[in-house]
Amino acid sequence: MIERETIFILDFGSQYTQLIARRVREAHVYCEILPFNTSWAEIQAKKPKGLILSGGPQSVFAPDSPHPDPAVYDFEGPLLGICYGMQLLALHLGGRVEPASRREYGKAELSRTHPGCLFEGLPDRMQVWMSHGDHIESPPPGFNIVAQTSNAMAAMEDSGSGRFGLQFHPEVVHTPLGMEILKNFLRVCGCSGDWNVSSFIEESVAQIQARIGDQRALCALSGGVDSSVAALLVHRAIEDRLTCVFIDNGVLRKNEFEEVLETFRANLRLNVVGVDASVRFLDRLSGVSEPERKRKIIGEEFIRIFEEEALKLGQVKFLVQGTLYPDVIESVSVKGPSAVIKSHHNVGGLPEKMHLQLVEPLRELFKDEVREVGRQLGLPAAFVKRHPFPGPGLAVRIIGEVEPGLLAIVREADKIVETEIRKAGLYDRLWQAFAVLLPVKSVGVMGDGRTYENVVAVRAVHSLDGMTADWAPLPPDLLGAISSRIVNEVRGVNRVVYDISSKPPSTIEWE
Ligand code: XMP
Repeated sequence: MIERETIFILDFGSQYTQLIARRVREAHVYCEILPFNTSWAEIQAKKPKGLILSGGPQSVFAPDSPHPDPAVYDFEGPLLGICYGMQLLALHLGGRVEPASRREYGKAELSRTHPGCLFEGLPDRMQVWMSHGDHIESPPPGFNIVAQTSNAMAAMEDSGSGRFGLQFHPEVVHTPLGMEILKNFLRVCGCSGDWNVSSFIEESVAQIQARIGDQRALCALSGGVDSSVAALLVHRAIEDRLTCVFIDNGVLRKNEFEEVLETFRANLRLNVVGVDASVRFLDRLSGVSEPERKRKIIGEEFIRIFEEEALKLGQVKFLVQGTLYPDVIESVSVKGPSAVIKSHHNVGGLPEKMHLQLVEPLRELFKDEVREVGRQLGLPAAFVKRHPFPGPGLAVRIIGEVEPGLLAIVREADKIVETEIRKAGLYDRLWQAFAVLLPVKSVGVMGDGRTYENVVAVRAVHSLDGMTADWAPLPPDLLGAISSRIVNEVRGVNRVVYDISSKPPSTIEWE
């Protein structure tokens, strides 16, 4: 294991915890999130350069409020409490915390009241973002109040012992100078700031080499960013001892099978086995209209085919997966280590069944960092910025039974949506944009004749992580162009509608 400067965040359940980690990494210091109740022995063994106690939704006065291992407060290095984390710090070190008469939420103006390390080099007044209930009435002995808003103490520090508290959130964009405050904390921690994507690639390649040795590994490519980057990274480490399998499940986007094979084989020189299993998948999907059943069939058939291909390759010991950091930490939250940590098995069940050991080289990275690794490893821009696409593909974009004729319709319509949105320069600004074929026929008129044809729904959304989403207000001209191209060019469609629902209550996909 390579040692690197790391800041650890103890997570008390704030919606911003991941954001703090990302900000620290943007300052080129590696950062990890741990459940709030991680034992001191475990934290200490990781040799933190500094600790951050995150915010959290609870009041420190609530009977079941989360507290860290008390030894955390004796950490010899710098300790920063943010919001709830600061109240914990104040309470434990002998300050006075008061329950709030009302919550303070939103923008506030901060004034510096005393020189302090965290605000070094910053102006005397600045905008910050508050979101807290309890507040600190008097700081613990040894602490100075270094900033104040009209409503509350905004920051306290005891620079001698390296203890700092912020009542506001430095990690959010509404605190424009928040990044500078965090950088000042990292400076106090003595971090040199040498972590970046290139150093990650270097370390990761060395680790993969050490782990896989001269054995062989397999990777299921999906055409998406995560599996592509995971494959490229492992390929850099073990070269031809990595074999990728890319399966045409019959529900891929237009030309996707050919394009992925071409890119990975010819441009990136990876060893990719392409398996056209579309007939097998479509046979099994025939007559099935229930969405979860479609998902299950596609998942099962995928595993079967992948296993068949793997057996043809002989002795393979490792399976590469593109699991990302949010998948690893997603359900840790305030429930702590006892909560189930979601493991992202794209090829569910395979590792155990085939006695394969998992290699997950992206488990420490956020999505934007994965994209950067992809860029640096030569993944073409079109792949790096690709919209997410569900594993069950176009099967969940045909409402009802999946038939070859309907697939041809939705595939063409989807291509038109993508092409027009790219042409309008909006592709990179949207989370996803696609077409859905509805099981509805409507009357139309084309030329001199009456038509009775299918309806296509167009969906485009903004989202940060797919968990929530807003429908995108696409320009009317663009919607018009998409609609007229679909009706004119895709046989069997005479009407196009635009989906104006957000998630929740709707989902992004229709099935
Ligand atoms: P929903 O429709 O639940 O989708 O709002 C959230 C995100 O997940 C994608 N999605 C899937 N991805 N297998 C996948 O690999 C699936 O079965 C699946 N269903 C939805 C969806 O495209 C969106 O990005």
